[in-house]
Amino acid sequence: MGSGKEENTNTFIATDQSLSKQIRSLCTKMCICTALMIFLAFGILMIGFGFRGETDTYTAFPDEVYYMDYNVYNLSFSKKNEQIKLGFEIFRNTPLHIGPKQKDSTQIFAGNNLACASCHLNGGTKPFGAPLIGVIKRFPQYRGREDKMGTIEERINGCMERSMNGKMMPESSQEMQALIAYMGWLGRAAPSNGKIEGQGFLKVEIPNRAVDLGHGQRVFENICVECHGTDGQGQVQDNGLYLYPPLWGEDSYNNGAGMTRVITAAQFIKGNMPYGTTFDKPVLSDEEAYDVAGYINQKLRPTKPNREIDFPDLVKKPVSTPYGPYVDSFSVEQHQLGPFQPIMEYYTEKYKINKSK
Ligand code: HEC
Ligand code: HEC
Repeated sequence: MGSGKEENTNTFIATDQSLSKQIRSLCTKMCICTALMIFLAFGILMIGFGFRGETDTYTAFPDEVYYMDYNVYNLSFSKKNEQIKLGFEIFRNTPLHIGPKQKDSTQIFAGNNLACASCHLNGGTKPFGAPLIGVIKRFPQYRGREDKMGTIEERINGCMERSMNGKMMPESSQEMQALIAYMGWLGRAAPSNGKIEGQGFLKVEIPNRAVDLGHGQRVFENICVECHGTDGQGQVQDNGLYLYPPLWGEDSYNNGAGMTRVITAAQFIKGNMPYGTTFDKPVLSDEEAYDVAGYINQKLRPTKPNREIDFPDLVKKPVSTPYGPYVDSFSVEQHQLGPFQPIMEYYTEKYKINKSK
């Protein structure tokens, strides 16, 4: 086909040289014109974005689902809506409802005073802040940690047992059902497969070296102590709930939580910390996020029982899971603090799996 085209051009040039020249110069002019127009249009677009970006932060949202009204208190009164509001209350003020601040001890499931919203920011509606918009539609889903299809109830209980350092909540309980109702409502505008832009966390370019704990400590002292305190224990408000949650210690997430993976924590921190940071204007560099994530995750925190039975198919274990067993022969320390590239390369070569965390 290519050679046919060339032949045609050649005969054309041979028969009429000057016409060909005219056409060529016309083509060049048109090309320059088009390029100019594209350049101009792009410029106008950029100015438009920049301008609106300053006056209306919403223009930066990566997916239109974030434009919905997610304030539960704007909902009218109905049985369903009251359940959604209760779900939000549990999500925001978790310790009061299902945690240590609950007076009825039979209703206590969370073991620490974090809230779901401590990590699923803005009530689970922040892009790259582990948003839960559409999450109900994403389940049931295959889960590597259990190597089976998992339900949304099981996934919530996964965070209960690890991030909340607690125990499983009965699936039929009012609280579980209210959380699910809230998340279902969050996903009302999400596509049927539940997939949205800004899901999970911001990707971070993981430095090809081990975590520098000294640098991590300096970042912590320069930036994080302002809110999380010099001892990393956060700050409690008059009502007993955290204004700033702790980053380690006995009231923090346990050592089986997703946040104890350096790569996951670095991604969370990069797109969301210091508080108020948005994915489009990260404050920390990738190196700073990586090192400070390693620093906080080397501190003591509660122990998750039976961690070793996680990931029955060990090949699927994320490379930065800080506890064994592993199917590779890299040290536990390297799985905790990197460098992760050699581990990732090992899985790509041996198992043809590209691991990102
Ligand atoms: C210490 C931080 C932390 C806390 C507290 C926490 N989670 Fe999570 N949660 C995570 C992380 C990290 C993930 C994995 C996010 C990802 O990879 O997209 C996650 C995932 C989830 C998912 C699955 C999300 C998805 O897109 O598949 C659900 C549902 C969930 N959490 C619910 C809850 C609920 C409900 C609570 C409170 C009872 C809670 N979480 C508390 C950190 C936390
Ligand atoms: C301006 C205050 C502020 C600063 C500075 C700040 N944070 Fe946070 N951080 C928060 C708040 C507030 C939350 C909980 C959000 C919520 O409850 O809505 C949080 C939550 C977190 C969480 C998840 C919940 C938990 O306690 O584990 C981590 C991890 C975290 N911050 C790490 C950091 C790191 C690392 C730094 C420094 C690079 C940092 N933060 C700087 C205010 C801050």
